[in-house]
Amino acid sequence: MKAIIPAAGQGTRFLPASKAVPKEMLPVLDKPMIQYVVEEALAADAREVIIICNDDKPEIAAHFSPSPDLVRSLEHKNNTALAQSVRHAGALPVSFAQQNEPLGLGNAVLQAGDFVCDDSEGFFVLLGDVLVPDNGLLTRMRTVSEAYGNAGVLAVIRVPDEDVSRFGIIDAELISGSEQDGTAVWQINALVEKPLLHEAPSNLAIFGRYLLTPQIMQLLAHTGPGAGGEIQLTDALEALLQSEPLYAIEVDADEGLDCGTIADWLSANIRLAARDAELSKVVSAACDRIF
Ligand code: G1P
Repeated sequence: MKAIIPAAGQGTRFLPASKAVPKEMLPVLDKPMIQYVVEEALAADAREVIIICNDDKPEIAAHFSPSPDLVRSLEHKNNTALAQSVRHAGALPVSFAQQNEPLGLGNAVLQAGDFVCDDSEGFFVLLGDVLVPDNGLLTRMRTVSEAYGNAGVLAVIRVPDEDVSRFGIIDAELISGSEQDGTAVWQINALVEKPLLHEAPSNLAIFGRYLLTPQIMQLLAHTGPGAGGEIQLTDALEALLQSEPLYAIEVDADEGLDCGTIADWLSANIRLAARDAELSKVVSAACDRIF
């Protein structure tokens, strides 16, 4: 299964930090956000990873290119671990497609149409502003897809009322498992992008991971602007429901790290730091000093 990572957005929520540095290149601990996402796709055995980018963000391609001089210099100074981390980033197998106009997520995914058009199997879409490291979420999505005739599967998460209008929200029916133990599988009845709270059919928000069937590409080609004047993947998925079922599974709230705003990104850094033996001491010392 191939994987598409849209990364051509303007990063508006991160301005001014994202003025000259792509949002996707902002670090979470020691790595840029997008590296976690590429590694997540590869950990789920994605056959190929394509990043949708544009000419304003050459830093992303630079990050995934070899830096032999830097590696040599680090090795010369016996800084083996850093040399290895630089070599690793430069060797991750990614390729690129362009989205030259900021027309929205749906349009970004459409730019990878040629990349998936020869396949009858589905493909993953991973958004860069949520991280789900070391969780096996994509593998779980693939298992559910296979159980339901290779259908599309989305990852969702319950969000509080005040956040509903920031996300794509699904109307869905629980068809197996239970929410209590994280095994819930929903069949989706409808999807709406960034609804007002009183129009939202639930609190189940799409959480940046999609397993899609190739049919979505034809629908995206005919999807007009939606919420925010952008071509929305959610709207094409709503149209897809006319011809195919779609399912959803839940991301464990402790495992899904939203990085969609500065506040969320800060929280993701702290939560990941708390998992690290050394950095957790830094978090704890900083908290002691402040509170
Ligand atoms: C996108 C999707 C939305 C989804 C969100 C988080 O919105 O359009 O449906 O809920 O990512 O994964 P964005 O955050 O790009 O505005």
